[in-house]
Amino acid sequence: MLVLKKILYLTITSVFFSFLFQFCKYSTENYKEGKKLYISSCSSCHGENAEGLGKWYPPINNAQLILQNRNNLPLWIRFGIYSDSSHRFKTQLGIADMPEHPHLNNIDICNILNFLNDQFWKQSPYSIQEVNSILKL
Ligand code: HEC
Repeated sequence: MLVLKKILYLTITSVFFSFLFQFCKYSTENYKEGKKLYISSCSSCHGENAEGLGKWYPPINNAQLILQNRNNLPLWIRFGIYSDSSHRFKTQLGIADMPEHPHLNNIDICNILNFLNDQFWKQSPYSIQEVNSILKL
């Protein structure tokens, strides 16, 4: 009986922890994940330090972005920004398009945003629940 109880206890704790790890946490590990994804998916256009590239690609290291567009950032990453109005988001600069990133899941997007926030924006981080609810719209 005691063994059964132990097994039950272990199962419950492991389910609990695997559930916890589904969330985008604010640990250094996750910023590392966000950094890796930023480098592979974003830095070719926006630069390694999010400083932008000439007149083509805007810098994304200013806190105004998250202060004014908190609810748009996950959507822009997922759906891109295009000059062609058949897309959901239209360019502001009108010089180049930003591609959509359908291969990045909600946790990836959350991690990228929290990496940028940790490095540059310094505002309250995104929770995965917040990103999930924005991307459901
Ligand atoms: C192929 C180039 C390219 C890639 C890759 C790219 N972007 Fe962009 N991004 C752009 C361009 C061009 C714009 C400006 C669009 C416009 O004129 O509004 C932009 C705009 C943005 C903006 C809005 C900036 C502002 O001031 O309004 C954010 C935020 C952003 N990108 C984040 C990202 C993130 C995060 C990634 C990686 C997941 C990424 N981008 C990948 C080209 C790119």
